[in-house]
Amino acid sequence: LTNAVITAVGGYVPDTVLDNAALEKMVETSNEWIIARTGIKERRIASDPRMATSDMAVLAIKNLLENYNIQPEEIDCLILATSTPDYILAPTAALVCHKAGLLNAFGLDLNAACSGFLYALSTGGMFIESGRYKKVLVIGADKMSSIVNYEDRNTCILFGDGAGVVLLEPTQDTATGIQNNIFMTDGLGGSILSVPAGGSEFPATAETVAGKKHFVQQDGRTVFKNAIKGMSNACKQVLEKNNLTAQDIDWVIPHQANLRIIDAVGERLDIPKEKIKVNIERYGNTTAGTLPLCLWDFKNDFKPGDKILLTAFGAGFTWGATYMVW
Ligand code: ACO
Repeated sequence: LTNAVITAVGGYVPDTVLDNAALEKMVETSNEWIIARTGIKERRIASDPRMATSDMAVLAIKNLLENYNIQPEEIDCLILATSTPDYILAPTAALVCHKAGLLNAFGLDLNAACSGFLYALSTGGMFIESGRYKKVLVIGADKMSSIVNYEDRNTCILFGDGAGVVLLEPTQDTATGIQNNIFMTDGLGGSILSVPAGGSEFPATAETVAGKKHFVQQDGRTVFKNAIKGMSNACKQVLEKNNLTAQDIDWVIPHQANLRIIDAVGERLDIPKEKIKVNIERYGNTTAGTLPLCLWDFKNDFKPGDKILLTAFGAGFTWGATYMVW
């Protein structure tokens, strides 16, 4: 039996900081409101228009390969979770393989919105568990600033840009690595959080652009409630599946959408705040980027054998929880 274990972590966030004071000048809002309602103080923005999602992904990969002394040719496979691909067609993963010099890797995109990294992590894990691949990169990367309407205070305060990446490798020690997951999808949520135009139903036209239908739109309150319910239930189910209680868990790494969502999930699970990793105050919601950016920021806190719960909720709706041992 082979398990997939995370052996390296990398990340990239753009230098440009968009703080709450800057947003106060763009829409009718306040630093106090944003902090109280979301926990976000600032986000990073890929302000250089030539910096696409693939470029952030490449910089995250370079960070990983350099820090762990791995050659790009060693990588077998790349799974890139994103909702903001460089193009509708071709896949961003192909561009990333080329730009990062992953000459021996095949690449594919995976879109499950804010749950994208979690789904990609398990998909990559199964490529390893099958015995067919030895080094799989799993990336979550999103340039949310490319689909955010900076005149809409309901959404523009929430999102940021960034990319995080992990390397999965095989281990024969099946007490470590990815252990189990619970994934759920409910397409009834599709209209509650979406970018309506630019796809096959409403291809981009002058009208869709004039109507701002190529930007993220959401019913925030409905997303909020469903995110709390979805993530806490998925966590409970994955714990049960592994005969664990919340007290057994060393760290929770939740999707960073809103600090109040994270706090509510922690309360429902009865897990103390010290065990829940949070960096939303610095990055906002980077969609597929939040979980790997948390792994990157806090990797030095994790010790071998630590029991970690990852959980996410996003558009679709898609949600889930993964239990792994560091
Ligand atoms: N500044 C000031 N006031 C604002 C702002 C703002 N930026 N945005 C909304 N308001 C106003 C609203 O207009 C409303 O005013 P009204 O009562 O006169 O209508 C009031 O504040 C309260 O609005 P609510 O929507 O009830 O505020 P809520 O506490 O729900 O916070 C928020 C809104 C932050 C969007 C929250 O619902 C949320 O985070 N939802 C989750 C959305 C999300 O994370 N989506 C991302 C993708 S999916 C995922 O990652 C989970």
